[in-house]
Amino acid sequence: MSQNLSQALDYARNNHQRFLEELKELIRIPSVSTDPQSAAEMEKAAAWVADQLRALGVSEVAICPTARHPVVCGEYRCGLPAAPTLLVYGHYDVQPAEPLELWQSPPFEPTVRGEYLFGRGASDMKGQLLAGLKAIEAILRNNHLRVNLRFLIEGEEEIGSPSLKQFIEEYQHRLRADVALNLDSGIVAPDLPTITVSLRGLAYFELRLYGAAGDLHSGTFGGVVHNPAQVLCELIAGMHDRQGRVTLPGFYDRVRPLSQAEREDLARIPQDEAYFLKTTAAPALFGEEGYTPAERAGARPTLEVNGLYSGYIGEGSKTVLPAYAMAKISCRLVPDQDPNEVHEQLLAYLREHAPRTVRWEVVQWAGSPPAAIDPHRPEVAALQRAMEQVWGVKPAFKREGGSIPVVAQLKEILGMPTILSGFGLPDDNLHAPNERLHLPTWKRGIETLIRFFDNLGVTVGEGAPAE
Ligand code: BES
Ligand code: MN
Repeated sequence: MSQNLSQALDYARNNHQRFLEELKELIRIPSVSTDPQSAAEMEKAAAWVADQLRALGVSEVAICPTARHPVVCGEYRCGLPAAPTLLVYGHYDVQPAEPLELWQSPPFEPTVRGEYLFGRGASDMKGQLLAGLKAIEAILRNNHLRVNLRFLIEGEEEIGSPSLKQFIEEYQHRLRADVALNLDSGIVAPDLPTITVSLRGLAYFELRLYGAAGDLHSGTFGGVVHNPAQVLCELIAGMHDRQGRVTLPGFYDRVRPLSQAEREDLARIPQDEAYFLKTTAAPALFGEEGYTPAERAGARPTLEVNGLYSGYIGEGSKTVLPAYAMAKISCRLVPDQDPNEVHEQLLAYLREHAPRTVRWEVVQWAGSPPAAIDPHRPEVAALQRAMEQVWGVKPAFKREGGSIPVVAQLKEILGMPTILSGFGLPDDNLHAPNERLHLPTWKRGIETLIRFFDNLGVTVGEGAPAE
């Protein structure tokens, strides 16, 4: 081990408590991107991130406005002539914390209990973002970095990154790099490091059904006017067949079939039926016939109802025939599906199946195309090696079921590939009450990233310092 590397690792160990305190500071800022009331908090979180970058010695740090929430950019030049450039991506926004009453400690008052730090954003992804920044700090304080860095830290990931496409187009001179390092992913278990090789995409809709001009007495008009809540249920019920397949016309046309080799890779992931039953505590599992749970959770497309609204949902009873019914429906997509095509497929389904007794409309919310990474890149090898050095086991390849819009955007607009890392765990309660970060894994993550940067420098960045 080089002296520089061991110094950086020691620095991280010696400063671990301070790193944790800084992470708590960031979690205390309730940067909920979807909430219009949170604009000031979003600014505050962006400023906090910008201060962190400046303290690292990053130059040209800028808080760049967008239509919604600002993006934080910056640059670090290592001074080696042939050094590659890495674009470090992160997001400082979080999902809403509701329902608040289900939290054991307040979501924006980070609290350590046992091996975990609890708080909204602890894992997704303020903890992962800081793991990256602190690994870089550990290296820079010990004069060690042999790659150039650029930073893209946004505040709209959790709402589908609606401003980012335009931002990347406008600011490409500040973003161009050989490869992006995206820290918004995770590993499958504390004792099994994994490298994410694909992300699912997302197509998100709101389906609105309108019946009578207003709510009606269900005794006076029931049996005469079709109930939009009933129609909505029938339409939703028809969106899957008995084999658990999605019935939107053409939905599977562009789905790349799984190769034998991919299926073998996924079979290494220790997520079988028993695992999902235990992790979710659901009474039984559901899904497309002919695929294993690990395949269904990352490599096959799905359709989910995310929310339903109609009629009276308060305490007690009310005999009403509602005038309106609404469902939030989203599809997770795999290569080569396209969110806009799925939108067309949903419209085609509704044209065929919606009865004339209701009027309907579909609103399309921001989504994300699916993305695949090239597992043969040298940066993946550098990450693999770093994980093996820290965990002592070879990382497995995993296909992630979640979505991160920037990955496809960077590929499409700048032709930039991404490698996916991050150290969240499946039971971190992402987007749910009691979100948490497993601190021993976080610590290992920081060490892994230090070694990753070190490995990168050795494989691709050797050379004499420039003038
Ligand atoms: N960090 C997640 C994506 C993720 C989830 C990675 C689970 C690894 C494991 C990301 O912040 C996220 O939640 N993305 C949204 C994107 C959507 C709003 C376009 C998602 O997947 O729902
Ligand atoms: Mn998220």
